[in-house]
Amino acid sequence: MAFYFDEPSRTFSEYLLIPGYSSAHCVPSQVNLKTPLVKFRKGEDPALSINIPMVSAVMQSVSDDNLAVALAQEGGISFIYGSQPVEKQAEMVKKVKRYRAGFVVSDSNVSPEMTLQDVLRLTEQTGHSTIAVTEDGGPGGKLLGIVTNKDYRVSRMDLDLKVKEFMTKLDDLVYAEEETTLKEANDIIWEHKINCLPLVNKNRELVYLVFRKDYDTHKKNEHELIDSHKRYMVGAGINTRDYETRVPALINAGADVLCIDSSEGFSEWQKITIDYIRKNYGNDVKVGAGNVVDAEGFRFLADAGADFVKVGIGGGAICITREQKGIGRGQATAVIEVAKARDEYFEETGIYIPICSDGGIVHDYHITLALAMGADFIMLGRYFARFDESPTKKVNINGSYMKEYWGEGSARARNWQRYDMGGEKKLSFEEGVDSLVPYAGSLKDNVSLTLSKVRSTMCNCGALTIPELQEKAKITLVSSTSIVEGGAHDVMLRDQR
Ligand code: IMP
Repeated sequence: MAFYFDEPSRTFSEYLLIPGYSSAHCVPSQVNLKTPLVKFRKGEDPALSINIPMVSAVMQSVSDDNLAVALAQEGGISFIYGSQPVEKQAEMVKKVKRYRAGFVVSDSNVSPEMTLQDVLRLTEQTGHSTIAVTEDGGPGGKLLGIVTNKDYRVSRMDLDLKVKEFMTKLDDLVYAEEETTLKEANDIIWEHKINCLPLVNKNRELVYLVFRKDYDTHKKNEHELIDSHKRYMVGAGINTRDYETRVPALINAGADVLCIDSSEGFSEWQKITIDYIRKNYGNDVKVGAGNVVDAEGFRFLADAGADFVKVGIGGGAICITREQKGIGRGQATAVIEVAKARDEYFEETGIYIPICSDGGIVHDYHITLALAMGADFIMLGRYFARFDESPTKKVNINGSYMKEYWGEGSARARNWQRYDMGGEKKLSFEEGVDSLVPYAGSLKDNVSLTLSKVRSTMCNCGALTIPELQEKAKITLVSSTSIVEGGAHDVMLRDQR
């Protein structure tokens, strides 16, 4: 006979937090949001943590290299979408790893024999106006000069003019040794009133460019998420089909963590994929798995060796899985049950496996609730899609700016690997929609506002860390009438008259 759960499954909006005692030192500026990203043994530190509990969804319309850099600057991590050719995904990972506010490996390079036409083409391709001139035209060749838009006038110069004729030559350039620290580089930049400082090795080969604008950004990012080489950290999505080519390419590109992206993770395909990683890379490569929505699914992925487990089916803003297939579970209930299973597993084995609540965050307080219910971090799609840094188009609809946001299960994404149950190699029916979301500005401004609310609520609960919140949180269900009471009510809003 079928198994029936006693309780209906519930969403975040059906719960509230009840404040606990907060002492005078419990203030938002003291809250630490650092949280484990991968599993660890009791008493040990996790191999990877993130500085804020937010990660971006493995989606075409959300996580490219641009958003990954912006999120790492705030302390979170992106999972670059896997529904693209392996080489393209690996290139995005490389771009994040190369991009460190401060030290940039030059991606716009020419040789002295190339022409003004080549320079213009490159500038258009990369969007960068500083071009390194190296002997071989590569990013690590012997540095001969620099070309910026101050060196040429298109209207006055022949497009066939060779670069060596108009570049600023090395003798006239300020440059420094590769060991120069960011602070020293910045001092040189200021002293010489320049915008870019090339750093070279002993053979005078180009190693990095340091830009004035990057140093300013760098100074503002106190929570930035960087690896031991001071590069931004980045994750990448994989699937249970082409992992034998995708995983090596992503690891070579420098991905810090992988995540199996699948709509339904309680499956042997996930175990096979994790087995492949363990066999070839041992525990050096970290991989999350999912998605599951109950204790049994969690236990399966924990035993399969997942480094974190993603929770959620059917709650995503663009998701129509529940309507199409009738599978899923209210996101709050799923998180509560999986968190309990995670704690039991920890008790039994001494291994803590972080869980990620994926999808369905509508209000900022849903993040705090998910954390209080036991999530270690939260994956968001719609939230990030609204920002300048997301990969999608900003469109003007009747005077309001919107951003495009489409699901991985939509015909537009064509991500059959995420939904494939074996052998079909096509999307038989859609599980996601193609939509628009209100444009909301920069990631930095929005994340800092969201987290200021999270910190504030945590203080109301007397908690300065996420584990403390999970221990102290008092959570209540709310009736449908009290949900109405929770918004502005029985008043006429001025801007809606
Ligand atoms: P959101 O934060 O509510 O927008 O949900 C994002 C999450 O929805 C992702 O991290 C995925 O787990 C899930 N998702 C992405 N694309 C689809 C889809 O097309 N159908 C169903 N779920 C999807």
